[in-house]
Amino acid sequence: STPVTLDNLAALKAQREPIVSLTAYDAGFARLAEAAGIEVVLVGDSLGMVLHGEADTLGVTMADMAYHTRLVRRGLTDTLLVADLPYQSYTSAGQALANARQLVAAGADVVKLEGGAVMVDTVVQLSRAGIAVCGHLGLQPQSIRELGGFRIQGRDSESAARIHADAVALEEAGAQLLVLECVPPQLAADIRAAVRMPVIGIGAGGDCDGQVLVLQDVLGISEYQPRFARNFLTGRDSIQAALAAYVAAVKAREFPPPAAD
Ligand code: KIV
Ligand code: NA
Repeated sequence: STPVTLDNLAALKAQREPIVSLTAYDAGFARLAEAAGIEVVLVGDSLGMVLHGEADTLGVTMADMAYHTRLVRRGLTDTLLVADLPYQSYTSAGQALANARQLVAAGADVVKLEGGAVMVDTVVQLSRAGIAVCGHLGLQPQSIRELGGFRIQGRDSESAARIHADAVALEEAGAQLLVLECVPPQLAADIRAAVRMPVIGIGAGGDCDGQVLVLQDVLGISEYQPRFARNFLTGRDSIQAALAAYVAAVKAREFPPPAAD
């Protein structure tokens, strides 16, 4: 097989074929994700919660992210690897560039950061330096203290318009991929149609260019299973079968279900 590239993902968007993404934090699960046909593996800072047992992602460090990115890289041959810049690691464009370079050195193909208009300068600089950027809008877990909890974003027209404008601003700055977390399905659909970059949704309804879930949620072993997630191990006898079922359900647009919106 041939490596998945950002151009391939853009082609999938153009063909309206859903892109399937999953988090992984080590080589073993990364290998299983690739074997199941996952196109994008995300080394998410969700590892602070699902691996470290913290209540949020704020304690995750660059050392953590570089370490897990190295592990995941060893498990992948062809899958695109996206790694999160953690909390407080991109407070200036210069700091972002230095830390993004560390993640690339650890094996990331793309680095992900949270935030819209305020991140434009940073995204421009990373892009100019040849580092591919994935944005992350809607529910931004690194802003959980400001948000006051894990809840849906963009419900009123003012905040929906801001998220929409943020997505356009990120694309204009050079972002090539976008994660949209916990926004109303109609907002995700509008943004998906308005930008060229593929939009990967999580808790954002079915009209996205792709879906992403946290590995532990797919396997039903998280401490707190989000309402929008699904345990794909239920009724199956292996992790491999569960991951294959997740891929098949997203490709068939059976997940997320319309009713879960
Ligand atoms: O950290 C993570 O796992 C993420 C996904 C939930 C998109 O950012
Ligand atoms: Na994250």
